[in-house]
This record gives sequence, C-alpha cells and structure tokens, in this order.
Amino acid sequence: MEALHSATRAALDAAARGVRGANPLVGAAVLWDDGTFTTGYHQGADTPHAEPDALRNASPRSTTGATLVVTLEPCSHTGRTGPCTQAIIDAGIARVVIASRDPNPSASGGAQVLTEAGVEVLFLNDLGQPWAHELAAQAHRLNARWFTAVTHDRPFITAKIAQSLDGCVAARDRTSQWITGAESRAHAHLTRARVDAIAVGTGTAHADNPRLTARTDGGSGADRQADTETHLGAPHQPIPVVFGTTPLPEDSHLGRNPRTLTYTDVGAGLRDLRRRGVSHLLVEGGPTLMAHFLQHDLVDELHVYTAPLLLGDGVRSPLNVETLAHALTFVPDAPPEALGSDTFTRFMKEV
Ligand SMILES: NC(=O)c1ccc[n+]([C@@H]2O[C@H](COP(=O)([O-])OP(=O)(O)OC[C@H]3O[C@@H](n4cnc5c(N)ncnc54)[C@H](OP(=O)(O)O)[C@@H]3O)[C@@H](O)[C@H]2O)c1
Repeated sequence: MEALHSATRAALDAAARGVRGANPLVGAAVLWDDGTFTTGYHQGADTPHAEPDALRNASPRSTTGATLVVTLEPCSHTGRTGPCTQAIIDAGIARVVIASRDPNPSASGGAQVLTEAGVEVLFLNDLGQPWAHELAAQAHRLNARWFTAVTHDRPFITAKIAQSLDGCVAARDRTSQWITGAESRAHAHLTRARVDAIAVGTGTAHADNPRLTARTDGGSGADRQADTETHLGAPHQPIPVVFGTTPLPEDSHLGRNPRTLTYTDVGAGLRDLRRRGVSHLLVEGGPTLMAHFLQHDLVDELHVYTAPLLLGDGVRSPLNVETLAHALTFVPDAPPEALGSDTFTRFMKEV
C-alpha cells in the first residue's frame, strides 16, 4: 500500500506538469512489485497520453505483470493517438489503479475494456484508505473545470488579461497598446500557438485591428496594427473569432481573413465552435466581452499579465459585484512568474 501511495502521488505530480487546454491533465506511474516506479504524463494535444509515456519511460525494464497507476481512466477510443487501453494490454500490465473516472462519453469505458481483457482494475476510491480518498479527490480537482467544459459541450476556456497594477486594461482614452512589455507579449504568443481559436468582441476588433495570429517573433514591433502579410507565423494558427453585432470593417485584418468566425450570441457560438472541433478557446477581451465570460462562469483558466503601471480612472471589466461575498474567486495554479518588468500569474476557477 505504501508503494501504491507513493506512486499515485508521483503520478499526480507528473500530471500537474502538463499544459492545461484541449486535453485533461493526466499522469501515470508503472509500479513494480519491488516498490520502485517510473512516471509519465500527457504534455498536451498531439503528444502521447500519460500511459504510453510512462510505459516508454519504463524501458528497458519489463512491464509484464506490473501495476499501472493512472490519474484518469484510460481512454479506449482512437483519437489523435491510439487507444491507451490497447497499449496497456500490449505491455502486459496486470493491474490498473484509476484515480478518477472520465466523464467524456467518447473517451470513457476504458476500465471495462481492460477488465474484459483480463486486466485487474481498481478505483482509488474503492481501496477504503483515507489517503486514497484524498488523492482521488485531488485527481478530480485537477481536471474539474475541464470536465465542466466537456459536460457543457463547450471548449475549455482560457481568458487572458493584460492589466496595470490597479487592474485597468486600458487608459481612460481607451489606449491599451502596450500595457505589458515584450516578454509578456512573447509569452502570450506561445499560448496563442497552443489554442484552437482566439476570441475578442467587436469593440477590440475596431479599436485595435488585431490579427489574432500566433507569431514566432513574439508579437514584437508593429504587431496588432501592422498592415503586412509577411509577419512570422507560428506553424499552427488559431481560428479568429469575434462576438458582437457590429460588422467588421472590410479593410481590417479580421474582416479580410476568410477564417474569421463571427457570432452574436456567446452560448450558440461556443456550441458551434465545439462542433467545429475547437477544444480550447482563448478569450483576449476586451473588458465588455470578458465581463460576460467571467460573470457567466465561462472562464476555466485565467492568464493575468500585470505591468508596473497605475492607470487610475482607466477601463476595467464591468463586473457586477456589489459586495465582497459576491467576488468571483480563482486560485493560483502556479507561482507567479517574472516576465521582464511584468508579472504573469495563472489561475484556475475555484471548484
Ligand atoms: N488589456 C487587455 O487585455 C485588452 C484586451 C482587449 C482589448 N482591450 C481594450 O479594450 C477596449 C475595448 O473595450 P470593449 O469593451 O469595447 O471591447 P470588447 O469587449 O472587445 O467589445 C465589446 C463588444 O463585444 C460584443 N459583446 C460583448 N459581450 C457580448 C456578448 N455577451 N454577446 C455578444 N456580443 C458581445 C458587443 O458587440 P456589439 O456592440 O457589436 O454587439 C460589445 O459592444 C480597447 O481600448 C482595447 O484596446 C484591452
């Protein structure tokens, strides 16, 4: 039991090293009878799932007869990678210990497939140990908001805010380029390169004429207002999305881009994006659209870039918070990071 406890903890730690977004965070550990183990984790869309990663890391040691601990029920579907259940069966794993069930209808059923193949399957919650209940709850919390997005048939949503120390996203005259510095912009472009789509409201589309592309030059130089098609594009480009009724200017970057999707209703837009295969949406504002997403509990993860400026009577998201008890609460997901003179903090919606 002691070894299983340690291996489960290690699998959870490994899971947390993944990147939030289109796929859940998952870790795994191959545990041998002598109490030693090796871990693996899922590093994001289009990379191996945690189970094959752990099995690969176990090499050259034989995995026949070993136990595999997984923080999430192994998938049995052939998605972008092969089914993990088959990799587990092929590796000769004798026992699989699962920390949390997968509510995603297209991925669940892995436990049953394994059982039918003669692999012993145990759920952490059924072990009757206090530590096992605690770690099962931790495994669920790790992906609770990802589960929410799947259950609500919408993409996982990351919101990005670039703000002054006093929480303004633009000055009183609505100027906002650039509140944050070059390092923050380069960092934000790495996130852009990972997501499937990026959304703004028509206010931002008109005020900033953004491209909503992921650029390998980190969005330096003329960036959002540059009128050139020769910018350094990252290999994967997200779909640009605009919410609102005001038509886009025909000569704007988003107006000219044939990939731009426009929606007048957020709920219908999110469902349509999901149908189009958008699993991870980045909302970049502005403050009016951001307030809607925050107020309607549609922000799973928050990326906040804070610059050392005070803007006083500037523009903030018009949140309807009357009293402290009604504040929208988030929990830090990682320690704050210095980016030049700015600070970057990642938060998760509190569950
Ligand atoms: N610092 C930052 O992180 C940041 C990021 C982006 C923008 N900004 C700044 O923010 C300012 C623009 O502010 P803003 O509030 O006007 O921008 P915005 O939120 O991008 O646009 C507001 C418009 O979006 C549409 N919209 C908002 N909520 C909606 C909903 N629930 N459903 C459908 N449509 C919805 C509406 O369009 P219609 O009126 O057309 O229906 C609304 O007028 C600019 O100065 C810009 O530079 C700052």
